[in-house]
Amino acid sequence: MPPILPPPLFLYGTAWKEERTASLTELALHSGFRGIDTANQRRHYFEAGVGEGLAAAYRAGIATRSDLFLQTKYTYQRGQDLRLPYDPVASLAVQVAQSLASSLEYLGTDYVDSFVLHGPASGDGWSEADAEVWEAMQRQRDAGHTRLLGVSNVSLKHLEEMGAAHVEMPSFVQNRCFARFGWDRDVRAFCKERNILYQGFSLLTANQEVLRHNLFVDLARELNATPAQVVFAFARAVGMLPLTGTSSAEHMKQDLGSVAVILSQDMVNAIGSISG
Ligand SMILES: NC(=O)c1ccc[n+]([C@@H]2O[C@H](COP(=O)([O-])OP(=O)(O)OC[C@H]3O[C@@H](n4cnc5c(N)ncnc54)[C@H](OP(=O)(O)O)[C@@H]3O)[C@@H](O)[C@H]2O)c1
Repeated sequence: MPPILPPPLFLYGTAWKEERTASLTELALHSGFRGIDTANQRRHYFEAGVGEGLAAAYRAGIATRSDLFLQTKYTYQRGQDLRLPYDPVASLAVQVAQSLASSLEYLGTDYVDSFVLHGPASGDGWSEADAEVWEAMQRQRDAGHTRLLGVSNVSLKHLEEMGAAHVEMPSFVQNRCFARFGWDRDVRAFCKERNILYQGFSLLTANQEVLRHNLFVDLARELNATPAQVVFAFARAVGMLPLTGTSSAEHMKQDLGSVAVILSQDMVNAIGSISG
């Protein structure tokens, strides 16, 4: 396997694109994205379409596999519909292996850069099932099928319980990031302490009211940027790796352009405390 590269500054999310998945994945790469987020969960993602988009981009000379950061997920059966990427009566460890093997086939690669537990089995805390899955994911990593591991949709309690169990901590946490919870302040603080990279999704869709707030509108005007660009610039300024799932070529350009939007510390503090 090639050496581990740092993750890109943005992840392009491929959820909910159905038959447009291949063409939008290719367009995202053409626009400049080098990080792709997907999941082997047919209910919300069409991973084979992501693979088609990647193949088209390779053929067109837009990128090579080693230029890219590819991330996929293992999803428990309760998060799936009937189109399962594993045998539902097999052990969880076998399901994890089958899910990742199927992802590698869809994506036309022999390794992914990150393999993520899509969500813990219970909202209450880190369970025995999660421990079994997490161990199986580590075995997949040790076998070279993924470089790094992550968890998604986790609370501070999940992470603290992982820490208390002295299990290996993830390289990534991927969470929906609500401004009204201080932009997931507690989880982000935990991640910072443990050197875990926080990936934030729904930064725009979960925070519509905040985006219309005068502070954002004024900041965007002052910075000659759009409110969406200000959110992504804020995310990066506080150490997040943001995701966008835009289907628009223009928004792809704008979202990537947010890398050039630099906020002062006062601006970061004001956005950080905008709603709690
Ligand atoms: N781990 C999980 O459980 C989980 C859950 C949800 C999502 N995700 C991942 O995160 C990815 C992103 O999902 P998301 O919930 O953040 O977003 P999303 O559902 O992809 O929606 C982004 C929205 O923002 C709009 N938008 C994007 N850029 C914009 C811009 N510059 N100006 C104005 N509007 C803009 C898009 O509209 P246009 O299309 O018109 O631009 C779209 O309506 C998903 O594809 C998936 O990969 C993971």
